[in-house]
Amino acid sequence: MCGIVGYIGTREAYPVILKGLKRLEYRGYDSSGVALKNEQGLKVYKKKGKVAELEESVIGIDMHAHIGIGHTRWATHGEPSDRNAHPHLSNNKKLAMIHNGIIENYAPIKQELINKGYIFHSDTDTEVLLNFIEDIQKNNECALEEALRIALKRIVGAYCILLISEDEPDTIIAARKGSPLVIGIGKGEHFLASDASPIIEYTKEVVYVNDYEIAIVKPDELILKNLGNEKQTPFITKLDMELAAIEKGGYEHFMLKEIHEQPNTIHDCLRGRLLPETGQIMMGGIENNLDALVNAQRIVIVACGTSWHAGLIAEYMIEELCRIPVEVEYSSEFRYRNPIINKGDVIIAISQSGETADTLVALERAKEQGAFIFGVVNVVGSSIARISHAGAYTHAGHEIGVASTKAFTGQLAVLSMMALKIAYAKKTITHERYIQLMNDLHAVPEKVKEILKDTSNIKAIAEKYKDAKDFLFLGRGYNFPVALEGALKLKEISYIHAEGYPAAEMKHGPIALVDENLPVVFVATKDSYYEKIVSNVQEIKARKGQVIAVATEGDTIIPGMANDVMFVPDTDEVIAPLLSTIPLQLLSYYVGIAKGIDVDKPRNLAKSVTVE
Ligand code: AGP
Repeated sequence: MCGIVGYIGTREAYPVILKGLKRLEYRGYDSSGVALKNEQGLKVYKKKGKVAELEESVIGIDMHAHIGIGHTRWATHGEPSDRNAHPHLSNNKKLAMIHNGIIENYAPIKQELINKGYIFHSDTDTEVLLNFIEDIQKNNECALEEALRIALKRIVGAYCILLISEDEPDTIIAARKGSPLVIGIGKGEHFLASDASPIIEYTKEVVYVNDYEIAIVKPDELILKNLGNEKQTPFITKLDMELAAIEKGGYEHFMLKEIHEQPNTIHDCLRGRLLPETGQIMMGGIENNLDALVNAQRIVIVACGTSWHAGLIAEYMIEELCRIPVEVEYSSEFRYRNPIINKGDVIIAISQSGETADTLVALERAKEQGAFIFGVVNVVGSSIARISHAGAYTHAGHEIGVASTKAFTGQLAVLSMMALKIAYAKKTITHERYIQLMNDLHAVPEKVKEILKDTSNIKAIAEKYKDAKDFLFLGRGYNFPVALEGALKLKEISYIHAEGYPAAEMKHGPIALVDENLPVVFVATKDSYYEKIVSNVQEIKARKGQVIAVATEGDTIIPGMANDVMFVPDTDEVIAPLLSTIPLQLLSYYVGIAKGIDVDKPRNLAKSVTVE
């Protein structure tokens, strides 16, 4: 899941590309590079490490050009290094290419080319595709576009590629399948990128390129074609994102900014949809497909990572309120497991980026079997949004921190409204309960504001436990998936081994881990499991475990037992995950900071996993 940027027009290409790569760096930061084409020909500059290291390495070099492509890498084939960094040059040095994705059948093609005398300077699948294109162009004496079309019909895998050639002036050729590509339309210029963040400051008019499309981009012309060489009409969309959304706004890190944005983002997600005063929930995607949802025989939720945790919470909500059986599937397992999809089944796909490859292919599989697909997505216009039959956006705004925070609470807000609307339509919930839960949900933004008012206590707890080797996160009922999410956040941001567990499961093994060196985080807010969780805390205390508790304001029992407490305002257990997750986001952030980790770009991770 690399970041791709391209520019063609009248401006200096290098500064546009460099700024774009910095905006996309959350997608991968193992190495970066640019290829520029000017009167002197094709020049490639690339460097292992962050974009800043590339910038450093070209100081003093004439980077003049009006055409260029740039890449920031998340390594799949070939370790992070200068030679595996993109762009790659073809053997005849006439073609330069960048690629986001994986070419699965690159090895046999590489062998074919080696037998023909091609030399490879890297371990990447990308360089293989590039020389394959050179070879086809040479053998068929055809245009680059034609050679690319032939090559793409032979390869298997996911790709977004940008190509520039010595011999094709004023042209960038791009293609996509599985990995995202957006093209920004300017006056006499075009911007190409993996998402809109490098484009937003120049134009709001964009085209989302579809799978199996090739784009021939010139300063004042954009042609889209399919692999059958038939012209496609570009569908221009207006971006509703502001530049400020992708700036840090005075916060030290995007993650902290995004945690503190949640009172507004949850409010934005509920606004115009949740109307407690009239008892209505207005969501077009649900309204227009209420029958399919209300009469669903089974709901299967497919997702990955944090989105999968949101799916688990939705399982508890939908089964309790709507009385519809729900299964929550890891997309990567679901797509290969040949799952049983019956008529009347509804698939809910949850994804922040809307580009997660495993979830995308899982949906394609389910769609082939006739399932109704409902998407819960944050990135507008993303592939999962476009492949779904219907859906609801989470309106959390651009999420840049690799660790998902505001998108998670946005997902919970949408899934809560979905469950309430379906339950009310199914009459599986009383009017009183419906209104009570609507009011509790409506009150969440203010309650999150209260939690965020003073986070010094959480910061102190984080510094106290920052040197722990392991952490356990425990919860019951709706708070069990919150415990899983807390453990994931800490793993991602602090590199500390952390596990989430249903609290009652401890006795069946994990309690063997407990001693005075193990911090155990209990998500123990007031709910129907409260008495049970109190005894679970006692079990841990009995083994000298260090108990950190997320407790409901006003509770005295849990705080009396715990070593450290993070309070949240009271609310209904169905809505509680939207509050109890906030202290855990902050705990992981402050532990990461205390350990000096770049929390916006934690090692080995990337924001959107567009390869399997
Ligand atoms: C969460 O903090 C991680 N970034 C990761 O687990 C993420 O949730 C997962 O990759 C799914 O991404 P998606 O929501 O964009 O599909």
